[in-house]
Amino acid sequence: MALYAIGDLHLHFQSVLKAPAQLRDRVWKNHEEKFRKNCEKLIAAEDTLVLAGDHSWGRKLSECEQDLDYIRSLPGRKILTRGNHDMFWDAKKTKQLNGLYRPELTFLQDSYEVYRDYALVGTKGYTFEGPFWIDRRGRVVDWDAEEEAHAKKLVERELARLRTSFELAKDDGFRKFIMFLHYPPTNILEERSGFTDMAEEYGAEQVIYAHCHGESRFYDSIHGEFRGRQYHLVSGDYLRWHPMKVLD
Ligand SMILES: [Fe+2]
Ligand SMILES: [Fe+2]
Repeated sequence: MALYAIGDLHLHFQSVLKAPAQLRDRVWKNHEEKFRKNCEKLIAAEDTLVLAGDHSWGRKLSECEQDLDYIRSLPGRKILTRGNHDMFWDAKKTKQLNGLYRPELTFLQDSYEVYRDYALVGTKGYTFEGPFWIDRRGRVVDWDAEEEAHAKKLVERELARLRTSFELAKDDGFRKFIMFLHYPPTNILEERSGFTDMAEEYGAEQVIYAHCHGESRFYDSIHGEFRGRQYHLVSGDYLRWHPMKVLD
């Protein structure tokens, strides 16, 4: 039995693909087929795969059904968390989605899922992505203060959702956590954030995040050890469509 993760499938079986990188870059060519083959080689029926957001380009559920059917047809138990592009998934209507797709798919929001003695907790997250102003040496010298203030509100909302997820698991007796975000846990300055603090507060062993895709974005946030936790980027193109093993 193993736990795997990947994010940013950006499927588009029923929607018009407009993302230039996805149209242009080789890594995205037939990525659905590459990913399916990798999953079929790697993942057994008793395994769990967490998909960390940006599942579909569809703007409403009727434009995502084939994408969700594709995910449903992959091996193992599938847990989905929200990404910024998942317009089909209103956080407040997660229960209805689960009603439609359970038991094959689980939409994780304001709740947790169990893997062995771990609670899998998560939310979309948020981070201020700029604009930043950078000097000739590549150092950040300033940023858009108005945008940053707006980002702070979104971060607070996501932190509250994440805390709900942790607290429900804690109330049920869980002491071991794997934390999933869609957005990276920090901005490009890679300083402590509410998300890294919460990972530390509850003792999450690993923080898994996605969203950073395209080679220029892969190192926007933390990789590896940071203040006692392990951080892993699992965007699909970064992993070249091989799900990352999180736990045995
Ligand atoms: Fe994405
Ligand atoms: Fe994203």
